[in-house]
Amino acid sequence: MMKKNASVFFCQECGYESAKWLGQCPACHEWNTFAEEPKVSTSRGKMASSGRRSEAKEPVSLKHIDSDSQDRISTGMAELDQVLGGGIVPGSLVLVGGDPGIGKSTLLLQVCRNLADRLEQVLYISGEESLQQIKLRAVRIGEFSDSLKLLCETNLSDIEAVVLKNRPQVVIIDSIQTMFQEEISSAPGSVSQVREATGVLMRLAKEQNIAIFIVGHVTKEGTVAGPRVLEHMVDTVLYFEGDRHASYRILRGVKNRFGSTNEIGVFEMTDTGLREVANPSEYMLSGKPEGASGSVVVCMMEGTRPMLLEVQALVCRTNFGLPRRTAAGMDYNRLNLLMAVLEKRLNLPLSSYDAYVNIAGGVRLSEPALDLGLVLAIISSYRDVPIPDKTLVFGEVGLSGEVRAVGMSQQRVQEAKRLGFDRIILPKSSLSQMKSITGIRLEGVSTVRDAMEVLG
Ligand code: TYD
Ligand code: MG
Repeated sequence: MMKKNASVFFCQECGYESAKWLGQCPACHEWNTFAEEPKVSTSRGKMASSGRRSEAKEPVSLKHIDSDSQDRISTGMAELDQVLGGGIVPGSLVLVGGDPGIGKSTLLLQVCRNLADRLEQVLYISGEESLQQIKLRAVRIGEFSDSLKLLCETNLSDIEAVVLKNRPQVVIIDSIQTMFQEEISSAPGSVSQVREATGVLMRLAKEQNIAIFIVGHVTKEGTVAGPRVLEHMVDTVLYFEGDRHASYRILRGVKNRFGSTNEIGVFEMTDTGLREVANPSEYMLSGKPEGASGSVVVCMMEGTRPMLLEVQALVCRTNFGLPRRTAAGMDYNRLNLLMAVLEKRLNLPLSSYDAYVNIAGGVRLSEPALDLGLVLAIISSYRDVPIPDKTLVFGEVGLSGEVRAVGMSQQRVQEAKRLGFDRIILPKSSLSQMKSITGIRLEGVSTVRDAMEVLG
């Protein structure tokens, strides 16, 4: 007779466990992500995750805990420090996730270079590349000091032994999907392996007070477990995003036990590694055409950081009965909704026009503050009348064509002023919440029609 429950099925995206194969994951709703893995017997599973038993500990009162030991280590990259909440916390476990080829290894190798100048020992463990390959990458990045040690290893027990022997202050594991525990029979990259490996690293980080960075690939095919499986286990989750064909990258904090998740870091991939972009607005607007219709500058907030971007719309007469609409970098349904508002409230015959909307630079926007800019871009393209340069537009548009207030207007205006903008079209109701700013013309509008009239 076949042994019952010899294997289980895991969603490779989120780690959901099921006794039988499922087409769609009930937890994360991804399709076709279930893979069969041998069942880890509980006794062994427990042993692997808790390791040796430590002596019973006494509870401590809060005021007796020394917080000085939480001194942060600067990574030497201001953008990364900011996302981490002020630097690396010793003993923390940080997951850096992202698509393959986005630059995770490059970023962490650069961090290692910076840290190696100041710390006694930094250990970079790669399960993906040979020492020669890492060397080739390192040569592009620059000079490295001797305190950076490299290791090619995928067996976690060996890694643990090396870490305990060498006692580095910071360890990089590239990537978690290549690591394996011998006791677990499933393949590296499977949910059971990834979970166990993270458990071991977590314990190592906490017990030895070593900061560990884990690289996790985001998967598309579901052949290896995605980083979401371990999001809940680690202290900090950072995602490295960006269009592979555009050179800028955004590092976004998704979870952070030691800081705010509202921060982002902006980087640019160059031929000598990643370069920090301290002034993202300037960078994003650098290719904006002057005097072109359908182009509007909007402002999005990434956490507490304002970022100016260009929205482009192209509206042209449709050749078919059904107009085409495409939205790159924003929600398609939102575009349809805003076009319906224009059609109904301003009587624009948009149903016989195609509309293509693009956020320049490959950014994805979901903020409602973008609405007014988008609407004006569509109108500008429809009428073929350019919107004056150095004009910033923000505000939420409601279904009756009203323009509603959005948060953090002051920061948005300030950023525009810093970049030399001289005119801002914003919700009238936001005006009252703002302190006066000189040298910039603020024009409050309460409906989309007003906004159109303001622009003439
Ligand atoms: P990598 O860090 O290997 O990505 P990941 O670890 O996330 O898979 O980055 C690889 C890409 O970055 C590769 O396409 C080449 C590019 N790159 C540069 O453009 N400049 C550089 O200096 C380096 C090191 C890489
Ligand atoms: Mg890599």
